[in-house]
Amino acid sequence: MLVAPSVLSADFGNLQRDIESICNAGCDLVHVDVMDGHFVPNLTIGPVVVSAIAACATKPLDIHLMVENNTFFVDLFAPLKPEYISFHIEEEKHPHRLIQKIRSLGIKPAIVLNPHTPPESIEYLLADLDMVLLMSVNPGFGGQSFIESVIPKAAKLNAMRNRINPNCLIEVDGGVSDKNIHLLRDAGVDIVVAGSYVFNHANKKEAIQSLQI
Ligand code: DX5
Ligand code: ZN
Repeated sequence: MLVAPSVLSADFGNLQRDIESICNAGCDLVHVDVMDGHFVPNLTIGPVVVSAIAACATKPLDIHLMVENNTFFVDLFAPLKPEYISFHIEEEKHPHRLIQKIRSLGIKPAIVLNPHTPPESIEYLLADLDMVLLMSVNPGFGGQSFIESVIPKAAKLNAMRNRINPNCLIEVDGGVSDKNIHLLRDAGVDIVVAGSYVFNHANKKEAIQSLQI
């Protein structure tokens, strides 16, 4: 299991210290939540702060867009060369076109599904994706509780991706901790995002290792 701590739970007054601490603690990716105050009822960071994160991160960036105008934001963040850019299927009229655009910029394209969105909705996109991100909370805030229905949903998506595109990874985001990590692994999940669990833990290395099972 790969672990991507969410910067949303970092101390923004000490951002460089916190980014360096998760990278030194052995995380696999750095998860960056971009919220526009429209698609979700919260507003986070733009390219100025994300480029500062990119400058001190020694692990690849995993940018999660929670925005209305995906194409605009892809153009804004592409120059930072993240490993992944993920966008919500609920907010995109032309997902296939956007996947191609992200790939043409040299970035791995990923799609995010909100808790209510069935995996079947992206069946015909799976062949072109590098990752699918399943939300296990309603997007917008860190520190929410884990929505259990993501477990059977991940298992269903796992069967679908094994059939259509075994190279496509499954990521889960929201409320992840040592309490649900085994269930996630057994359902076929490859990467977990963890914000409050990692940043509230007294020892970030221990927290990350407890998820890398
Ligand atoms: C929620 C974000 C998550 C969040 C995870 O909209 O996408 O990445 O920060 O935080 P925890 O792990 O605290 O639920
Ligand atoms: Zn996220």
